[in-house]
Parts: sequence; structure tokens; C-alpha cells
Amino acid sequence: MAYLRVAGTGDIPAGRGMRIERDGRQLALFNAGGGRFYACGALCPHEDGPLAEGWLESDAVICPWHGFSYDLRTGRCLVDPALGIPVYAVRVSGDAVEVDVP
Ligand code: FES
Repeated sequence: MAYLRVAGTGDIPAGRGMRIERDGRQLALFNAGGGRFYACGALCPHEDGPLAEGWLESDAVICPWHGFSYDLRTGRCLVDPALGIPVYAVRVSGDAVEVDVP
């Protein structure tokens, strides 16, 4: 595991997400505002919706296709407990957003 720079702190408006590809892995990166960022897998496990195109409500992302929400701190689905997404540690270093990619 290693922290890799995936974006600049100014690349994503607060409350929005961006799809990132690193080493063949697709991630969704979100700016929660106040210098907080979250990273998770790019696809919703319900029907593969594009999570980076979803929106944030508190610490959860809402999938744009059918509205399932996922806690970005745990990856737990708040609608269907059988579903979950991978979540990754994020840190800000200067103007870089870095993700601990496994
Ligand atoms: S594909 Fe995400 S809620 Fe259905």
C-alpha cells in the first residue's frame, strides 16, 4: 500500500466527485469540503452505476442511477446491508490529494 497523488485539491468542486484511474484501478474521489476528501471504488455494486457522478449527503455518496447511498467512511450501503463498496484512506499533502491505493 502506498499513497499516490490522484488529484489537486482544487480539481474537484466541494460536494462533487471525479473518476480516477490509477494502475488500472478505477476509483471515485470526492471533495466533501473543508479540506476533506473521500475515495472509493468507482462502481455501485447494485447495477454498476458510476459513483463519481453521484453526490454527497453528509459522509455518504448517493448513486446517480437508483439512489442507493454508501457511507464513505465504512463503505457500508445504507439501503441494502448486503452491499458495500471498497473505501480508501485519503490524505492531503500541500495541494495534492493522495490515496492509499492497495
Ligand atoms: S446502480 Fe447504483 S443504485 Fe442502482
